[in-house]
Amino acid sequence: MSVKKCLFPVAGLGTRFLPVTKEIAKEMLPLVNRPIISYGVEEAIASGCEEIIMITGRAKRSIENYFDRSFELEDLLEKRGKKELHDMIIAISNLAEILYIRQREPLGLGHAVLCGEPVCKGEYFGVILPDDVFIHHEPVLSQLIKVHERLGGSVVALEQVEVENVSRYGIVAGKETEPGIFRIDDMIEKPALSDAPSNYAIMGRYVLSPNVFEILHKQGTGAGGEIQLTDALRTLAKSEPVWGVVYKGRRFDCGTQKGWLSANVQLALENPELRNVVLEAVNGR
Ligand code: G1P
Repeated sequence: MSVKKCLFPVAGLGTRFLPVTKEIAKEMLPLVNRPIISYGVEEAIASGCEEIIMITGRAKRSIENYFDRSFELEDLLEKRGKKELHDMIIAISNLAEILYIRQREPLGLGHAVLCGEPVCKGEYFGVILPDDVFIHHEPVLSQLIKVHERLGGSVVALEQVEVENVSRYGIVAGKETEPGIFRIDDMIEKPALSDAPSNYAIMGRYVLSPNVFEILHKQGTGAGGEIQLTDALRTLAKSEPVWGVVYKGRRFDCGTQKGWLSANVQLALENPELRNVVLEAVNGR
């Protein structure tokens, strides 16, 4: 029953972070000393996944290069006796087995997930939206996998958001069957406040049933003219369980300048070597 594959939709153009994303993949922006994408990949591995599937696009070659070997650099570091750095960059390329599938057109998150069908069909799989970075004791994907292993079915991560923000997320409705766990029976992608069935929003972690592919094949466009994953999960919930889990941890939306900046400050404050750098900079010393 465990989840061994994890899909990362990374084809998005990062328009919320222009102009820097004109030339740099948003997933490659640094969070302290590692790119944003690395946090998601490390979370998937810590949650027991063995295969990473990146659904990528034409401007994202730097992600492939980051996780690949870099013989020239390895050679140089070795010759200069920089063993620690040498071992560190080799460890990055050994992190996981990573496959890349091109999403040729930006048709939405549901379409990105459908691009993963050739690799994920027939088994439950994880999805990580790498913009959503979590600081946690237990990886959020692992929290979801545990619920899947106990109750079966698909699972999404939930967070209660301010009502004025419901139109930015997929919003769910359902029955709380045990503290923090909902059996979802309805969900709407980016609803107007007046249409929102609750203020529980889906955050970027999922465990999905392979039956979602058949639904996505037949599904038309939804909010924003895109093929929405939320619409497919709404259909799925009519025939098999879809659980919502209020995750434990703190989330940063690193697809926005504010969220990214906030995550950098928070991660630096938690790093003993950097904590004072932040405090001194803020206090003007
Ligand atoms: C996507 C999903 C949405 C979810 C959100 C979480 O939206 O479509 O349901 O609430 O991620 O970050 P996006 O942020 O890609 O517009």
